[in-house]
Amino acid sequence: MEVKTSLLDNMIGVGDMVLLEPLTEDSFLENLRKRFDHNEIYTYIGSVVISVNPYRSLPIYSPEKVEEYRNRNFYELSPHIYALADEAYRSLRDQDKDQCILITGESGAGKTEASKLVMSYVAAVCGKGQEVNKVKEQLLQSNPVLEAFGNAKTVRNDNSSRFGKYMDIEFDFKGDPLGGVISNYLLEKSRVVKQPRGERNFHIFYQLLSGASDDTLKKLKLDRDFSKYNYLSLDSAVVNGLDDATSFRTVKNAMQIVGFMEDEVQSVLELVAAVLKLGNIEFKPESRLNGTDESRVKDKNDLKEMCELLGIEQTVLERAFSYRTVEAKVEKVSTTLNVAQAYYARDALAKNLYSRLFSWLVTRINESIKAQTKTRHKVMGVLDIYGFEIFEDNSFEQFIINYCNEKLQQIFIELTLREEQEEYVREGIEWTNIEYFNNAIICDLIENNQNGIMAMLDEECLRPGTVTDETFLDKLNTVCAEHQHFESRLSKNSKFLNDHSLPHSCFRIQHYAGKVLYCVEGFVDKNNDLLYRDLSQAMYKASHSLIKLLFPEGNPAKVNLKRPPTAGFQFKASVGTLMRNLQTKNPNYIRCIKPNDKKAAHIFTESLVCHQVNYLGLMENVRVRRAGYAFRQAYEPCLERYKMLCKRTWPHWRAPAREGVEVLMADLQVPTEEFSYGRSKIFIRNPRTLFFLEERRRQCLEDLATLIQKIYRGWKCRTHFLLLKKSQIVIAAWYRRYAQQKKYHKIKSATTIVQSYTRGWQARKLLRELKHQKRCEEAATTIAAYWHGTQARRELRRLKEEARRKHAVAVIWACWQGLKVRREYRKFFRANAGKKIYNFTIQRIMQKYFFGLKKTLPSMSPIDKNWPARPYRFLDGAHTELKRLFHLWRCKKYRSQFTEEKKAVYEEKLEASELFKDKKSLYPSSVSQPFKGDYLEISKNPKYQKLNSSVEEKVLLADVVNKINRANGKGATRILLLTKKNVVLADQKTGQVKASVALPDLTSVSVSTQNDGFFALKLKEGSASAVKGDFLLSSEHLIETITKLHHIGSTASDDGEQLNVDITDEFLVQFKQDKVCVKFIQGAPKNGNGVSCKRKNNRLLEVSVPASA
Ligand SMILES: Nc1ncnc2c1ncn2[C@@H]1O[C@H](COP(=O)(O)OP(=O)(O)OP(=O)(O)O)[C@@H](O)[C@H]1O
Ligand SMILES: [Mg+2]
Repeated sequence: MEVKTSLLDNMIGVGDMVLLEPLTEDSFLENLRKRFDHNEIYTYIGSVVISVNPYRSLPIYSPEKVEEYRNRNFYELSPHIYALADEAYRSLRDQDKDQCILITGESGAGKTEASKLVMSYVAAVCGKGQEVNKVKEQLLQSNPVLEAFGNAKTVRNDNSSRFGKYMDIEFDFKGDPLGGVISNYLLEKSRVVKQPRGERNFHIFYQLLSGASDDTLKKLKLDRDFSKYNYLSLDSAVVNGLDDATSFRTVKNAMQIVGFMEDEVQSVLELVAAVLKLGNIEFKPESRLNGTDESRVKDKNDLKEMCELLGIEQTVLERAFSYRTVEAKVEKVSTTLNVAQAYYARDALAKNLYSRLFSWLVTRINESIKAQTKTRHKVMGVLDIYGFEIFEDNSFEQFIINYCNEKLQQIFIELTLREEQEEYVREGIEWTNIEYFNNAIICDLIENNQNGIMAMLDEECLRPGTVTDETFLDKLNTVCAEHQHFESRLSKNSKFLNDHSLPHSCFRIQHYAGKVLYCVEGFVDKNNDLLYRDLSQAMYKASHSLIKLLFPEGNPAKVNLKRPPTAGFQFKASVGTLMRNLQTKNPNYIRCIKPNDKKAAHIFTESLVCHQVNYLGLMENVRVRRAGYAFRQAYEPCLERYKMLCKRTWPHWRAPAREGVEVLMADLQVPTEEFSYGRSKIFIRNPRTLFFLEERRRQCLEDLATLIQKIYRGWKCRTHFLLLKKSQIVIAAWYRRYAQQKKYHKIKSATTIVQSYTRGWQARKLLRELKHQKRCEEAATTIAAYWHGTQARRELRRLKEEARRKHAVAVIWACWQGLKVRREYRKFFRANAGKKIYNFTIQRIMQKYFFGLKKTLPSMSPIDKNWPARPYRFLDGAHTELKRLFHLWRCKKYRSQFTEEKKAVYEEKLEASELFKDKKSLYPSSVSQPFKGDYLEISKNPKYQKLNSSVEEKVLLADVVNKINRANGKGATRILLLTKKNVVLADQKTGQVKASVALPDLTSVSVSTQNDGFFALKLKEGSASAVKGDFLLSSEHLIETITKLHHIGSTASDDGEQLNVDITDEFLVQFKQDKVCVKFIQGAPKNGNGVSCKRKNNRLLEVSVPASA
């Protein structure tokens, strides 16, 4: 639960001075000091907030604090400026009362800060939204702009407001801000040209020079060095805690948010620069013929630059600084200006330029922040005017400022002290009058139209003849001498004749806040506020749009010969308007107190605070408050507000409002000493009673809200219930429909299944019956068929039997007949005739067979396979034997024709067949090739003559072979000669013998099973030929070569041992020391000789042989 801090709980000192006991000046100050020491800078006097400047930032302005004070009763929490702002805002929003927040106090007491806090609080608690936020932001951002141009460092305050500001914030009926209007009061323009010691010019000059970029400064023809500008005092150019450069960026940003256009910002800066340039223009005297001195611009550079900035013709401005034209009704007189007058004119121009620029800024801001809608709106005014000032040298400005403060004090007195007391009397409430100092008399001294100081000053300014500040003082001395708050050395009142603290050129006023000594010097001039017409006309002629706008009186077409109203007159009028305005609003007071003169934290200078407490009339304020009533309200609104607290007054009270209020108070049992009935108002003494009423009202409102909520919720729930019910019925109906539909589909499909089963069963039954019927029919047919068959077979058997019988009868008959014939003819035949006939027949058949065979014998070719067919089966054996015999005889005949050579050839072929048939694929192709032996015709060819002669024996085979290189498997052609003793390998080109192997050194020959011509000659280990190892060769006549080798090898061997021919696809060959495996693999079939031989590694030589197509 939230912990509430009441005004009375955990309080340091007394939060509300009304509760202070005993009430003395000391206890008052002690209470303030105690609270100040504990960082409690705010204290109440009833609804008035006293704020003591802490001169350091306190953690009491956080968003959480804003939330804490939001919508809370004024006295509910510890005193805070937020409580006042919240009270004012809620009265404005809920009770439709225009409000004004009057912030008073002397310079540096914290008025501007307080006004900003109020504005930021209101901005935080009022409505939100894109448009509203924009308005809020613009309202808040107007502050930095105005502070930059209107505030300056003074000895009392580093950020002293040098103008008065009253801002009306406008709200709609919901309390959302719509816009605002700012009024400004008399800027202290003398500061532009001269600043008192320890003070600065307006912030903007320093901000511009410190914060603007080099580029901007160049455009503005400015230098960053402050010392280059006469108008800028140097002793306080840099202020502790103020960062001018950052502030410049803030100001520019704020201008942008407020709605200044880029070119408007530039124009404003140009004007500021022009003022600085203007200050640098200096004059020198130039003697004229008539003996007078005329002023001339000394160094024209600054003048030139200024004219360039503002687009003014240099000569026009230069002339305006040397001559002055006085226009009377009929004539124009031009007089020269001396140097002093030129300086006066220059400064007047600078002051006017700056103050008009400032007023333009306010107008421009107002344009941006003005409410867009014309609907009726509520207003909250925040007044932050320059504080009461007492300087060492007080001039016209201080006089004006202090007058304004007098007026504000007056309004405070009017509304809180006088008005309140008068009200008690008016309303017939018992009341003992409380004395207080009414400063109306001082206001009268200043503003009285007949003999007030301002009226005197105006009179003096408007009077023809020589008018000086002294003549003005003389006048005061005569007219105001009797006034008890006016003091002057030379007044008739001799009281001050010897008062040395009062110089002759000064007068003193006893203000409500203390005595202030004003030096009359400059009063007349400042009040006149004259700018030579030549200068305003020169300004009007400028091409710079803004400067033209600022000097409308310079328009020659609108020359007004009437004297403009004096500064004092204008100020008095605007203050009068302000006061009237404030009186129409409900006032809320913030009384700011300055704890010390050092601008330092933690220092509470009692005498200083005591002085302020006195002149602000705070003690009187407390007294009136304590004796009086905290709250009053007319009967009608009071009844309207609280009538719900009593059954008799709620909801309507028909009798007079006062009676209603009486009934209400009686019903609520409020103690009678807590309130009094006035004539038209009820007066409630204690805030507690008011809180009690408010609390009861709040509870009642809560109850009412609960009731409304209850009814609304009931209605909402019922509506919801009805909707649910309706929906439930609809859903139920739909569901039932769906369920029934589903059930129906289920039954339907079940029925279909049952139906189909039944139909199936019936169909099967029918089928069975039909099948049975059919089977019966078929059985009948079969039986019938069988029966018929039986019948037919029986008939057939009978018929056959009958036929057999008939045949037997015929045979028996024939045999009988034959027997009869044979018996009859037996006598005609010899014995053994049958055997003889048989032999004869056989002989005849054999004879016929041989003769026939003789005629049909096949050819004598041994390969002719024809043989005539046998005529009789019984000759089978003889016929085959005859065929064999014939073939043998035919072969013998054939062989007998062979020569010895041919025979040898066939023997070789036979040997080849024995060696290779069915073992090597190459063999069949060799059968048809004759074995030529000497393919090179070595004995005839002269090319091989030498080779031939080197071989002793007869060459049996001469052919070109490929010798396979042992290292890489590539071939080299060689001539292979085979003699009865040797195998010789010779170079093909030269015929030189490369190797000769004696046949006995050969152990075996290895060939593959495939279609290739490779063969290895394996040599006997240790033999002479085996030095280089075995030979791997390839020949196109492999079969012939190997056959011959085999044949000769066998015959050459001494021991008749045959030369081995190994037919295998993998054999070992001895190459020098290594044994290499020669492996034959089958590759893809190829046309031509596609055999390739590759040395794979040390141990393997791979021969790829294409598969025979
Ligand atoms: N509530 C505060 N918390 C912290 N510092 C404050 C507070 N109020 C004022 N100050 C400090 O006091 C300085 C002066 O305050 P401010 O400018 O509001 O005085 P002022 O009453 O407006 O004076 P002037 O009449 O010269 O304009 C501020 O610059 C700030 O440093
Ligand atoms: Mg201020």
